[in-house]
Amino acid sequence: MRARYKLIGDVALVRLRSDDDPDEVVRRLTGKLASLRAILAYEGVTGELRLPKVRLLYGERPVVTTCVENGVVYELDAEQMMFSLGNKFERARVAALVRDWEVVVDSFAGVGQFSVPIAVFGRPKRVHAIELNPTAYEFLVRNVERNGVAARVSTHLGDCREVVGSLEGVADRVVLGYFPGTLRYLDVGLRFLKCCGGVIHLHDLVRKGAEEDYASEVVRAAREEDHTVRVLRMGRVKSYSAKWDHVILDLFCLPMRSPSTR
Ligand SMILES: C[S@@+](CC[C@H](N)C(=O)[O-])C[C@H]1O[C@@H](n2cnc3c(N)ncnc32)[C@H](O)[C@@H]1O
Repeated sequence: MRARYKLIGDVALVRLRSDDDPDEVVRRLTGKLASLRAILAYEGVTGELRLPKVRLLYGERPVVTTCVENGVVYELDAEQMMFSLGNKFERARVAALVRDWEVVVDSFAGVGQFSVPIAVFGRPKRVHAIELNPTAYEFLVRNVERNGVAARVSTHLGDCREVVGSLEGVADRVVLGYFPGTLRYLDVGLRFLKCCGGVIHLHDLVRKGAEEDYASEVVRAAREEDHTVRVLRMGRVKSYSAKWDHVILDLFCLPMRSPSTR
């Protein structure tokens, strides 16, 4: 079997196996895809910033590329930040739910994979896009401008746990597009929401078959934060590994106490 690869624009990400000869893989791929700008050996993502573990096999730095997904154009440096390729349907689905009166917070914006399509297709009153990695943030700003939605998107460089201090109670909808361990950010998501409640899209890695237990855990955690929660929908974004799925929960969250008593 040959090494598997995925394309982000004109950059190929290859998963090398122990018996693959990197030079042979480069020869094969450049022979097949003449316009390749770079080839990266890819070993997953790491750390809080979900940085890709990659090694440049072919091409030059910076490994900046442009790709189009659901009609939105993204520019990114494939060596410096991740771009999830399996989330195309989920990004389009959420953008289609957004209405023009909404304020949306994208807590882990990356290069804009939720913020930009939401702004382009949902045309909400405002999108707040928060990103901690300064390099990814640069591309987020570029992508917002490039897709003509700068008037609707406010970008924030920083940690969503701190940015929430200035955006508390503003949102009708919050995207928590991060995993694993997303539950530790649920309190932050709830703080972004308006006092009349709103929707949180919570992504996480969940053991296959344990979805119902996970949903109950989310409801319990929200209750501990003084919110009552209705699970509107639970779905699978993609299979992540043999044992784990990337799962999405749409939650309608309502504070149990009025703001004056909180
Ligand atoms: C997994 S990527 C997801 C990007 C996008 N939401 C998506 O689903 O395709 C997560 C992004 O969150 C950023 N990030 C991690 N911790 C953060 C934090 N505490 N506040 C804001 N951004 C953070 C990382 O730098 C990274 O760009």
